[in-house]
Order: sequence, then structure tokens, then C-alpha cells
Amino acid sequence: MILVTGGAGFIGSNFVLDWLAGAGEPVVNLDKLTYAGNLGSLASLARDARHVFVRGDIGDAELVAALLREHRPRAIVNFAAESHVDRSIHGPAAFIETNVVATFNLLDATRAWWSALPEAERAAFRFLHVSTDEVYGSLAPDAAGFCETTPYAPNSPYSASKAASDHLVRAYRHTYGLPTLTTNCSNNYGPRQFPEKLIPLMIVNALAGRPLPVYGDGRNVRDWLYVGDHCAALRAVLAGGRPGETYNIGGNAEMTNLDVVRELTTVLADERPGRDYAALVTFVADRPGHDRRYAIDATKIRGELGWTPAETFASGLIRTVRWYLANGEWLASVATKEYQKWIDLQYAAA
Ligand code: NAD
Ligand code: TYD
Repeated sequence: MILVTGGAGFIGSNFVLDWLAGAGEPVVNLDKLTYAGNLGSLASLARDARHVFVRGDIGDAELVAALLREHRPRAIVNFAAESHVDRSIHGPAAFIETNVVATFNLLDATRAWWSALPEAERAAFRFLHVSTDEVYGSLAPDAAGFCETTPYAPNSPYSASKAASDHLVRAYRHTYGLPTLTTNCSNNYGPRQFPEKLIPLMIVNALAGRPLPVYGDGRNVRDWLYVGDHCAALRAVLAGGRPGETYNIGGNAEMTNLDVVRELTTVLADERPGRDYAALVTFVADRPGHDRRYAIDATKIRGELGWTPAETFASGLIRTVRWYLANGEWLASVATKEYQKWIDLQYAAA
């Protein structure tokens, strides 16, 4: 079996669902259920004995050690993190606690357990750390995409905390020989993403007739990847990635935020006609320290592991919009008081 952390979040829940749909072996899912964790995303697994959900913190070394002893996973896939840049600007402490300190506790508990395993199990074990392209910082408009040797230059408390976790993973490989794999992926979108991130926030606001808040001039560029393609890449890395290596994952879909929002309003007009969604686009104050451009050079994972994305941005966006339109209950369940408080805080001046 495998141990997944953060498997009630956006990418983690998609990973667990895809894994079990593909006849993967059982999953122990360790998640703290912060505001971003949602068991509703895993509702279809309620009666699936292959999914064991444990509510807990990756920073709880005793809990992690007990889970490892009990379940003897052949791999850990670590999604658990604080993941939203804007929240890291308002409150960086939680990012240091989870992405740095708790990730260290998870790594160290894993090392202690792994080092006492019989040789064959030790060699076969993998610790896959799921990270972001944001650790590389911001690219000039005409610069080549990030590759695995691009120097780290994180600019936000979020990306700095993820960079720190990547460095710890690297050190545990180099110093103790833990068979680690690290992936650095570009912006994901798709079903089950919490509506604080660009695409689901815009969908939710558009359906309610609220403004679509575009930061600054809207010309910041991101490389968008459909979440199912990210999950396929992670399965490929887990199966065939070389221990100690890092793999960059990207969608070959660089777009400005303004183009993303415009395309979204076009899809919404097709799928849920009746409102002038484009008229809702509103420019608001820029994010402090806003990285201008991210782009991924995915040559390594394509060449070594044969992975390429299956979805284009256009096809993935239609799938995403349809999922949100068909899952009003899920959306209603995340529209909590805490969510409204965040929206009020972040967009107060908008
Ligand atoms: P998310 O915020 O949707 O989910 C994070 C999950 O981790 C939640 O279920 C939360 O409850 C859980 N969690 C948080 N702290 C925890 C702790 N201390 N112990 C146990 N569980 C905890 O995040 P996401 O967008 O699914 O991202 C998952 C991972 O992928 C993160 O590590 C993120 O840095 C990385 N990543 C995300 C993107 C993206 O575009 N979303 C891109 C590249 C990499
Ligand atoms: P986001 O989804 O927060 O991902 P990240 O900051 O990790 O790339 O934001 C994606 C882009 O969209 C980023 O350039 C910031 C911008 N953005 C807006 O313009 N308005 C918004 O309300 C949000 C949430 C993001």
C-alpha cells in the first residue's frame, strides 16, 4: 500500500481517486483537514475498503511512526502543505509550521522507520515530495522555461517554505540515502480545487454575478496543467523516477491571467448562458511581490518517463467548468463563514 498525505485537498484527492480507479493498491490518507481539506471530495470512496482515512498532522511524528509501523507502505506521496500564496502574505507562520517544520517531522519519522527495514524493502521504498515551480522565482518574458538545474529563487513566503522543504528532502537523500523523488509542477486547475485559487474563484464569482478580480494589469503568465495530467505524471515518477532526482512537470500552456479569465468567461457563456460574464472582469490592486512569469521545461520527464499532458488548456477548462456546474453541493459545502472571512479580507479594497 501507499501513504498519501494531504489527500483531502485539491491535487491529493484527485490523485487518490485516480489511483484507486486505476486498480492501484490501497491508500492510507493522512490529512489534517485544514480549511483546504474536504472529505466531500472523497465521498465516492466511503465504502471502498482500499481507502483508509486518518485525520492527523504530518508534523505529529508519533502518529506518522505508528502509521508506518502498522501499514508498512512501499511509498509516501507528500501533498500536505499550506498552498495559497495570498494567504502566505497575510499569515506566513502557518506556512513555516506545515511546509517546513511538519514536513521535516514527516521526513525524519520516515527516515527512522525506513532505516530499520530489511534491505529489499529499504531499496524499494520511495518518498515522493510534491512541490511547485514557484521555488524558481520569476522569469523574464523571453527567458527559457525552468529546468531541474535552474537555481532556486523563491519570492513569496509560500514558495520560500516549499523551497525549504525541497532542500530538506534533498538533504535526506544526500545524507541518509532515503530514496526520495521531488516534482516541481506548474499551476494546476480542475475539479475539487478550493475557490480561493484563480480559476475556481472566477467560476464561483461569475456564476453569482460578482466581479472577477484580476490583479494588477492581468499580464502575469502561468503555465497551466490539468490536475489529472499532474496525477499521471506523479504515477510515472513514482513508478520509474530515479531516487534522488527531481522532475519538472508543466502543461506547455503559458497564458496571461487575463487570457485565462477571458477564455473562462467564453466557456461559461456556452455552458451556462444568460449572463454577460466578460463584463464582470475587474482590475484590482496587485499582489505584493507578484511573480511575473512561470514556465516549465518538461524535457526531462518527457524523455526519461515518456509523460506528456493529455489535455489542452481548452479541453481541460471545459471539463473543469462542467464539474463545477454539476457539483453545486460541493461548492455549497466549502462556502463557509471562514471562506467568506477570507474573501472579505483579501478583496476588501477591490
Ligand atoms: P490544497 O491546499 O488544496 O490541499 C492541501 C491539503 O493538505 C489539505 O487537504 C489540507 O487539509 C492538508 N494539510 C495541510 N496541512 C497539513 C498538515 N500539517 N498535515 C496533514 N495534512 C495537512 O493544496 P493542493 O493545491 O492540492 O496542493 C497539494 C501540493 O501540491 C502542495 O504541496 C502544493 O505545494 C503542491 N503544488 C500545488 C500546485 C497547484 O497549482 N495547486 C502546483 C504545484 C504544486
Ligand atoms: P493562484 O491561483 O493564486 O496561483 P499562484 O499564485 O500560485 O500562481 O493565482 C494564479 C494567478 O492569478 C496569479 O498570477 C495571481 C492571479 N490572481 C488574480 O489575478 N486574481 C485572483 O483573485 C487570484 C486568486 C489570483
